[in-house]
Amino acid sequence: MVKICCIGAGYVGGPTMAVIALKCPSIEVVVVDISVPRITAWNSDHLPIYEPGLDEVVKECRGKNLFFSTEVEKHVSEADIVFVSVNTPTKTQGLGAGKAADLTYWESAARMIAEVSKSDKIVVEKSTVPVKTAEAIEKILTHNSKGINFQILSNPEFLAEGTAIVDLFNPDRVLIGGRETPGGEKAVKALKDVYANWVPEERIICTNLWSAELSKLAANAFLAQRISSVNAMSALCEATGADVSEVAHAVGKDTRIGPKFLNASVGFGGSCFQKDILNLVYICECNGLPEVANYWKQVIKVNDYQKTRFVNRVVASMFNTVSGKKVAILGFAFKKDTGDTRETPAIDVCKGLLGDKAMLSIYDPQVTEDQIRRDLAMNKFDWDHPSHLQPVSPTAIKSLSVVWDAYDATRDAHAVCILTEWDEFRSLDYQRIYDNMQKPAFLFDGRNVVDAKKLREIGFIVYSIGKPLDQWLKDMPAIA
Ligand code: UDX
Ligand code: UDX
Ligand code: ADP
Repeated sequence: MVKICCIGAGYVGGPTMAVIALKCPSIEVVVVDISVPRITAWNSDHLPIYEPGLDEVVKECRGKNLFFSTEVEKHVSEADIVFVSVNTPTKTQGLGAGKAADLTYWESAARMIAEVSKSDKIVVEKSTVPVKTAEAIEKILTHNSKGINFQILSNPEFLAEGTAIVDLFNPDRVLIGGRETPGGEKAVKALKDVYANWVPEERIICTNLWSAELSKLAANAFLAQRISSVNAMSALCEATGADVSEVAHAVGKDTRIGPKFLNASVGFGGSCFQKDILNLVYICECNGLPEVANYWKQVIKVNDYQKTRFVNRVVASMFNTVSGKKVAILGFAFKKDTGDTRETPAIDVCKGLLGDKAMLSIYDPQVTEDQIRRDLAMNKFDWDHPSHLQPVSPTAIKSLSVVWDAYDATRDAHAVCILTEWDEFRSLDYQRIYDNMQKPAFLFDGRNVVDAKKLREIGFIVYSIGKPLDQWLKDMPAIA
């Protein structure tokens, strides 16, 4: 029986290993983590992450061939294949601060693997890491190997949160990078055999190590770039009277461009896009390619611009001040169907509004009050753009409220800002909301989820990203 151990029971490691266990009944999969609460949660009825379909998969396999444990060393030493899926945040101090990936967790995992291994192992990079990390890891392992053979593979994960299980069941591709040596090829084959249990062979792409590592950064950079492209267009649409949805639809019909991932929004968030692009930028700079670095940096700058633009629009429309006004925030997660708030545009938008002394009332169906308060209190690391955001004062954070219902959040509010595209926001009773709001009642739709025409009939002043502006908004232009 092949034994797999995965170090790191997070958003990537947990769901990926659960699906491997489900699809490969003859493989024993143990997910290990140093965090006791995380492992306890994975072993309970309340999994530590919300992901549609995940509960069912875990229930089916847990205790059979899927296990969650804090006995990291024991399970690593027994495994044939060790996946490493630990966190790789952006460095906040020292060389490369704000851009380079912090590989502290990775390095300590690698040293531990070398330390406890008694048999040959395949070590698989699963977290997104800078190109050439595998080489560094290989050095740590071979310099400490005590005669044991380690093969390093890069097998980046492309799942998106909220659709992780669907993505894992039916991936566009599985990418496996390895050394072009007999030992490397054998290791690639072993991992390929695992995926071949459910993924058609033509979707399993085998490359060299560096190509696999870079492909992951490149894929995320391309995806983020599409959103910044459409968001940049949304500003131009508002200025000219074009409709960004119509433009995106027309552009996406070109088969060379394709229709997906062209929804204008208040900005992209999530743990990957910004982090991976900053990492790419850093790698370009280190390799003497400042033009390439600047090209990708612009994707993040446009994303920051889009969030600032939204805040400015809100404030400008409401007579240039939101001071003391109640503003309802609907949605805090970085996208729908997840409770994850990492890099969510809601953080910057809320901070911007709090900076103008708004009284926020926040509702998100999956994010806890604790999380929201933590996110807003945290000082964001400023990478290299002049921050438009003042740190939020503790009094401002105290003044905001987090509620469990959209109607509660919007009662007596002057304005509603929709920041996450939760399905339930499409079918709220907007007449009821309008009746209970201050007038004029504003609705700023950062995700283009509401039917603006219907809301205008009710009486709302509506702003939708990239859509022709109400006369009111035209008369109150945002001052840069
Ligand atoms: C992303 C990649 O999609 C995935 O392949 C990779 O493995 C990890 O990073 P994720 O961050 O989970 O996944 O979510 P994704 O669906 O890509 O959305 C990222 C952000 O872009 C969200 O804030 C989302 O709201 C935003 N977005 C997405 C848009 O604003 N418009 C779009 O058209 C699509
Ligand atoms: C382009 C658009 O494709 C067409 O829709 C529009 O109506 C006019 O402009 P054209 O300029 O004739 O058409 O050629 P196209 O095939 O798009 O190529 C443009 C340039 O891009 C060429 O120099 C081509 O060599 C280059 N290119 C194209 C690349 O370098 N790489 C590619 O992958 C594709
Ligand atoms: P991702 O989104 O990449 O899955 P997460 O932050 O959700 O990242 O998960 C990473 C997990 O890795 C965390 O639960 C963390 O506790 C765990 N971790 C980090 N370092 C180690 C280590 N040396 N040994 C075991 N687990 C680790």
